[in-house]
Amino acid sequence: MTSHVVNMRLISKSFIFSLSILVMLSSTTYSQIKSPNIQSATYLSEKFEVGPGEVVSKTMFDIEFPTDHIGVKSFDVDIVDEQGNSVPLHETYFHHYFAIKYIINKTHDFNDLTKPFGGAIFRRNDGTCNDAILPHYWGFGSESRGTSTKIPDPFAVELGNPANIPEGWEEKWLFSIMVIDTRGTENRKSCTECRCDQFNLPQNFYNMSTEIHGKPLTPEYKGGIFCCKDNFQCKLIKGFEAPRRKLALKYKVTWVDWDQQQIPLRFYILDSTDRIRINGSETIHDCLAEYTIPENNSGDRFHVQKSSIPMKKGGYLIYGTAHMHTGVVNATLYGQDGRTLCTSTPRYGTGKEAGNEEGYLVEMSRIEHEISENPKYLSRAAVT
Ligand SMILES: *[C@@H]1O[C@H](CO)[C@@H](O)[C@H](O)[C@H]1NC(C)=O
Ligand SMILES: *[C@@H]1O[C@H](CO)[C@@H](O)[C@H](O)[C@H]1NC(C)=O
Ligand SMILES: *[C@@H]1O[C@H](CO)[C@@H](O)[C@H](O)[C@H]1NC(C)=O
Ligand SMILES: *[C@@H]1O[C@H](CO)[C@@H](O)[C@H](O)[C@H]1NC(C)=O
Ligand SMILES: *[C@@H]1O[C@H](CO)[C@@H](O)[C@H](O)[C@H]1NC(C)=O
Repeated sequence: MTSHVVNMRLISKSFIFSLSILVMLSSTTYSQIKSPNIQSATYLSEKFEVGPGEVVSKTMFDIEFPTDHIGVKSFDVDIVDEQGNSVPLHETYFHHYFAIKYIINKTHDFNDLTKPFGGAIFRRNDGTCNDAILPHYWGFGSESRGTSTKIPDPFAVELGNPANIPEGWEEKWLFSIMVIDTRGTENRKSCTECRCDQFNLPQNFYNMSTEIHGKPLTPEYKGGIFCCKDNFQCKLIKGFEAPRRKLALKYKVTWVDWDQQQIPLRFYILDSTDRIRINGSETIHDCLAEYTIPENNSGDRFHVQKSSIPMKKGGYLIYGTAHMHTGVVNATLYGQDGRTLCTSTPRYGTGKEAGNEEGYLVEMSRIEHEISENPKYLSRAAVT
């Protein structure tokens, strides 16, 4: 008998690791039309304040958004200071934003405590995650400045269709964001990874916090979003001081009026941590949204996280990209027959300026397909 010693110490790189794809449902035939009239608007979110080392994790309801019946062609987000300048990641790290759709009674009252969120009903993407996990449409982070969200003609994300909104209700959007001000922190990188040991955690933190399934957090939890709660503070270099400042999200939406010339796409967010279980005829999804990469000294340089995800509805893949954090090599989506449909690869920055910050993941490559030339049908996906 050989005894195999496995070093179970964990390096707590916590990744939010998800793949967003846009899929056209049926095999509608289409002909290329003249470029439609693209409109655009740039908005500023409400401001939020950061100080050195501080985490801001918050939800902004009812953000400005075009309200007509439209087809969205792109959605790009940046973090800016009060002068409107992009803030580099080594000052304020953009961990993630999620743009989430909901409907709400026009006469709702946010102060009515019997109705959480004023009775808002969240309209999830068509992906397979369970409960409230990864419900967003657009959602990126540090890669957001560099990753194009442009959808090729004649496709678009249809929004504001009155037929999908009950009488007396309206469609709205919110941002759920997490940013970390890493100015003056003892360890910038660990701080952006939300490593628990980098934070001045409140007393009894582990006893008072719960994980994604509502169970108490154990000290085995070394890093992740639960150590990056709003107002938590990364440890600072002794004596470091810098002014607090107000930032905001600046986001640009481009769209066309919905006129039946477009083909509607559906958003599918797939999670490589999804632990699928089958119970009889029921498929149970258990997405974790983040995980801890085990330390492995036995030689393999790469850690692979994989999930094989059955989809209720198939469709043609039109756009795909992955959201991942610094350190990753690539993410791949395979079809049911095992062929590669889409690989998303990061670009790391090499300079100082916003959009090209050295050592930070500043872009994820994406795929766009013209289905007429290159149909990629998806009925079951594997995500690596
Ligand atoms: C909307 O809320 C009002 C009161 O706040 C209520 O009277 C009305 O029935 C609600 N409408 C719907 C469609 O639920
Ligand atoms: C946390 O809870 C555990 C188990 O209930 C208990 O043994 C421990 O003393 C608690 N720790 C603190 C700091 O309250
Ligand atoms: C499987 O489904 C059955 C019937 O719905 C249910 O009683 C059982 O608890 C489920 N088991 C698991 C592990 O979810
Ligand atoms: C560690 O690497 C070895 C060699 O590549 C591999 O067989 C093993 O499964 C890895 N262990 C973990 C926990 O990833
Ligand atoms: C992803 O990266 C790994 C490690 O460099 C490489 O072996 C693999 O071929 C890449 N996958 C794709 C689809 O490019």
